[in-house]
Amino acid sequence: MAESKRDPFRTINPPIHRASTVLYETYESFLEADQAPYHGKLYGTFGSPVQLELEKTLAALEGGYACRVCHSGFDAIGVVLMAFTRSGDHIVVCDNIYGPTRSFCDRVLAKYHVAVDYIPPTIGADIERFIKPNTKLIYLESPGSNTFEIQDVPGVVEVARAKGIVTVIDNTWATPLFFKPFEHGVDVSIHSGSKYIAGHSDALLGTITTNEAHFATLEDFYESTERFAAPESCYSALKGLRTLSVRMARHQASALEIAKWLEENAAVETVIYPALDTHPEHHLWRRDLTGASGVFGFILKKDPTREELSAFLDPMNIFALGLSWGGFQSLIKAENITDRVLPFRYHHRTIIRLSIGLEDVEKMKVDLGEAIERLA
Ligand SMILES: Cc1ncc(COP(=O)(O)O)c(C=O)c1O
Repeated sequence: MAESKRDPFRTINPPIHRASTVLYETYESFLEADQAPYHGKLYGTFGSPVQLELEKTLAALEGGYACRVCHSGFDAIGVVLMAFTRSGDHIVVCDNIYGPTRSFCDRVLAKYHVAVDYIPPTIGADIERFIKPNTKLIYLESPGSNTFEIQDVPGVVEVARAKGIVTVIDNTWATPLFFKPFEHGVDVSIHSGSKYIAGHSDALLGTITTNEAHFATLEDFYESTERFAAPESCYSALKGLRTLSVRMARHQASALEIAKWLEENAAVETVIYPALDTHPEHHLWRRDLTGASGVFGFILKKDPTREELSAFLDPMNIFALGLSWGGFQSLIKAENITDRVLPFRYHHRTIIRLSIGLEDVEKMKVDLGEAIERLA
C-alpha cells in the first residue's frame, strides 16, 4: 500500500522543535544543506520551523517585505541600530523612546562613534532642522509608551526619503493592527512581541520587519550575529496573533471607557490617551492610526508622595504592580520620568501608567476608584 503523504498527527498549531543539532540522513544532504528558506547548515541558531512561520505571518500582517525575530524587543532595537549605522554616522532619535533604547544609543552606539541627537517626540516635517550631512537613521516611537506623544510620521518620512535616510519606528503600542508603517513609507518596524503580540506576559520576543529595499542590510547583520528567538516564544506569538484582533478590540473599548471615566474624577488633572480628543496629537492619531491599544497614563492634581503611592498601589486587586504591558492582566506603575534630555509636557510629574487588561471593566473602575479615594 502506498504510504499516505498525510501526516497522521496533524495539529492546528505548529509543532515546537527544541534543537541545537539538526540531523541529516546522508553525507550528500549534509553537503547540500544550503537550501532556502535556510542558509548554511541547519542548526538551532538559524531559526526553527515555528520561527520561520512566525516571521512570514508577521511580515504579511504588517505589510512589509520580510521579518526577522529576536529574543526580546530590546534585542530587536539593538540589532536595527547596529545594522543600519556605522562609525562616523549621525542618527536622530525621538526623546520619548523606551528607556533602554536611550541607554543603547548612549552606551553602545557612542562606543562605536555613532553620534546621537534627541529630537522632540512631536516631530514632523520640521525634522529637517536636525538633519546633518552624515545623518543616516531616524528613530521614532509613536505613540511613546510612557508619555504617549505622537509623531507626524508621513511628514518625517517625506524629509527622510528626499535625503535617503532610513526611518525606523518602534510600533509596539499601536500593534501591527492599528498602524501600518509601510503604508506610511517607514522602512523598518520594530515590535516588542512580548507585549500584545504574545499577549499573555509569559514570553519574550522582538520583531523586525523591513521593506524590500532595507532587508538585505538587516539580514546581513542578523545572520552574522546569529540572532534567533526561542521556539517557545515564537509559538506563543503565533498563538497570540490568532486572537490579537479580538483582544485589541476589548483592550481598546475598556481603555477608552476607563480613560473617559478617569477624566471625570475630581482628583485627576489629565488623562494621557491618544484616543481622547483632549490628547494634544489626537488629530494625528485619528489621521494615521486605526485604533488605540490599552496603555495610557494619567496625572493626579496633587502628585502623590512615595508613602501615598504605597497606599494607592499596594491594596489594589485587579491592577498588578509590574513592568511591561499588553497582556490579559491589567498592570499599573507610577513613574516620574527623569531620563529626557528635552523639556516635555509632564516634567517633574508622576505619571500613573495603566495597561488595561481583559478583566471586567466595572471591577477595574472600582479598583482604581478606591485607590484614588485612599489618597483623599
Ligand atoms: C515601547 C517598547 N519597546 C520595546 C520594549 C522592549 O521589549 P522587551 O521587553 O521585549 O525587550 C518595550 C518594553 O517595555 C517597550 O515598552
